[in-house]
Amino acid sequence: MTKISESVDLDRRGRVAVLTVNNPPVNALSQHVRRGLYDGLAQATADAGVDAIVIACAGRTFIAGADITEFGKPPTEPGLHAVLDRIEGSPKPVVAAIHGTALGGGLEVTLACHYRVGVKAARFGLPEVKLGILPGAGGTQRLPRVVGVEKALQMIVSGDPIGGDEALRVGLIDELVDGDLAAAGVAFAEKVVREKRPLKKIRDLTDKIAPARGKPEIFAEFRKSVARQTRGFRAPESCIKAVEAAVALPFDDGIKRERELFVELLNSAESKAQRYFFFAEREAAKIPDVPADTPPVDVKKAAVIGAGTMGGGIAMNFANAGIPVTVVEMSQEALDRGLGIVRKNYEATASRGRLTMADVEKRMGLIRGTLDWGAMADADIVIEAVFEEMPIKKEVFAKLDGIAKPGAVLATNTSTLDVNEIASATKRPESVVGTHFFSPANVMRLLENVRGTKSSKTAIATAMTVGRRIGKVPVLVGVCYGFVGNRMLHQRGLQAERLILEGALPHQVDKVLTDFGFPMGPFAMGDLAGLDVGWRIRKGRGATSPVADRICELGRFGQKTGAGYFRYEKGDRTPIPDPDVEKIITEVAAEQGITRRHIPDDEILERLLYPMVNEGAKILDEKIAIRASDVDVIWVYGYGWPVYRGGPMFWADSIGLRKLRDRLLEFKKRAGDAFWTPAPLLDRLADAGKGFLDR
Ligand SMILES: NC(=O)c1ccc[n+]([C@@H]2O[C@H](COP(=O)([O-])OP(=O)(O)OC[C@H]3O[C@@H](n4cnc5c(N)ncnc54)[C@H](O)[C@@H]3O)[C@@H](O)[C@H]2O)c1
Repeated sequence: MTKISESVDLDRRGRVAVLTVNNPPVNALSQHVRRGLYDGLAQATADAGVDAIVIACAGRTFIAGADITEFGKPPTEPGLHAVLDRIEGSPKPVVAAIHGTALGGGLEVTLACHYRVGVKAARFGLPEVKLGILPGAGGTQRLPRVVGVEKALQMIVSGDPIGGDEALRVGLIDELVDGDLAAAGVAFAEKVVREKRPLKKIRDLTDKIAPARGKPEIFAEFRKSVARQTRGFRAPESCIKAVEAAVALPFDDGIKRERELFVELLNSAESKAQRYFFFAEREAAKIPDVPADTPPVDVKKAAVIGAGTMGGGIAMNFANAGIPVTVVEMSQEALDRGLGIVRKNYEATASRGRLTMADVEKRMGLIRGTLDWGAMADADIVIEAVFEEMPIKKEVFAKLDGIAKPGAVLATNTSTLDVNEIASATKRPESVVGTHFFSPANVMRLLENVRGTKSSKTAIATAMTVGRRIGKVPVLVGVCYGFVGNRMLHQRGLQAERLILEGALPHQVDKVLTDFGFPMGPFAMGDLAGLDVGWRIRKGRGATSPVADRICELGRFGQKTGAGYFRYEKGDRTPIPDPDVEKIITEVAAEQGITRRHIPDDEILERLLYPMVNEGAKILDEKIAIRASDVDVIWVYGYGWPVYRGGPMFWADSIGLRKLRDRLLEFKKRAGDAFWTPAPLLDRLADAGKGFLDR
């Protein structure tokens, strides 16, 4: 065996040379991998004793993509294009032997090979679009030539990988293999040599793209089919254009076009935001004083108290991850209702073909409903999701303290109550944390984990680890009213109310936010969540919100009653502006002596989002969030902030904090309201010419 570079070895098996990449953990395409492939190929092709070459990988996967540590750094030789040209131009057949995930540049390497074999469990994909870019090493030109235009469009624009069976069916691989992968690759290569098969260079193939020539309708239809999911993103359209080029242009011209589109995307605001966010999400997993090697409690069994809206969804998350979960309720009726909804949810998924009925039963089998609190005695984590009232929460935790095993993590799903006070009801406040799920809890990816003043590192590490295990994106926050997400949302809500009194209408306010990229605006969101919840809370506290209160007094609680801020046709969730609501708004405005005026869209946007940023600054100053990028992760995963705008703090930086702060001061002057006072941190950063992310 010869070492070609620090991560690539060359081995001879009979008359086949095997180049093995060994660059743990995921065999990323680092400079030394490219160097090793480049030089190794030269050696193998020059060796008269070699008839064919196999490229395979050690460890758990084939090359899974670019080396992210090289992002944003000057390119180093050899570039990926040079490596691919050498592979494709090899006078001896080159076979890729694939296991694990061949993604991005990894898949592009295999597409430069003359043949590909892979195991059934392997995954093949070009996920670049998820970073706001496109596969820039020939992927957009070669993939359609091997799998056809429609399949290539679908893979490149979604970024989602396909499995081994499908890869074989669509012609992406030549054979499914199993057992020792390198040996299987060698056997295949020997067959190619024996049968004198041609050097199949994908660049020269046209049979799969020819049928799409002169058929712009193929692309038009595809554009239409993805319009909704890709709205606001820039990369999907560029991906489509690149595939159009693959069809219309000779290979080398297509590669040039791909390059141009790639560079355009790389410099785009959207891609910068998406790449920033990619790292932001990874950062969120890091907690400065809880090192990654802090041992968490090994969660083998979970328990949930309360089978209501949230409890049922939380239990589903555990069952989906294969973790047995006990659900405790206070009455058989509530339990039956709660678990009935869980079953209905699963069955709905099954009816859409995304689960088998056997899966439904398996998951239901992992959820055990009971009225017996003793059933939680062996749970490693217990998540409380009962009514949002402090005395009830404290009673529940005091009782739980007497039952849960030592070391178990005791978590509360409270959205507004003080986690420290809840913890004080136990004799083990160090075991108590908040796990703030978002509704619907089985769907929403965000998990705000709340650190109490006494929460132990073990409890925190457990909440973070188990959060990831059940498919969530956990972000650690501190104790304050509303935590990070809802606290910022509240500021937006206050302005939304002001804006409709001053002259805007709910549909105008909502449209400004949907145009910005949110899936819906504050009023449609209120209608979806149900306006009665807030109304009851206000009544309990003696608070008012004149427009919302009047709407609720008419029995208009939102979608569930067919009307709220908007009205709804039966069986349709499209919000329709309602003159009755406009009347309420103008009446309330008149009662308050407000002269309504036209409010331009850009003012609406600033007034909705700048106060959120200002609140974010306070949250950072108070150390409720560890870092500005965590706030962004919360907003993208919990509230539908468009990822191509990074998140509120990234977005604020891109506007410039001085400009943003000065605008707050203008609003303050106009409204004479302390609401607009810039947060001290915002003020300091604005004066220093800095941003939240480089403070
Ligand atoms: N609904 C949301 O959107 C949302 C979002 C995030 C967090 N939360 C929080 O989650 C918690 C639960 O909210 P929800 O919307 O699921 O409420 P819910 O009213 O739908 O469900 C609460 C359930 O708890 C049960 N329960 C009450 N006391 C109990 C006790 N002593 N023992 C066992 N079961 C008991 C009730 O029977 C009920 O089924 C609250 O703290 C809430 O603030 C709610």
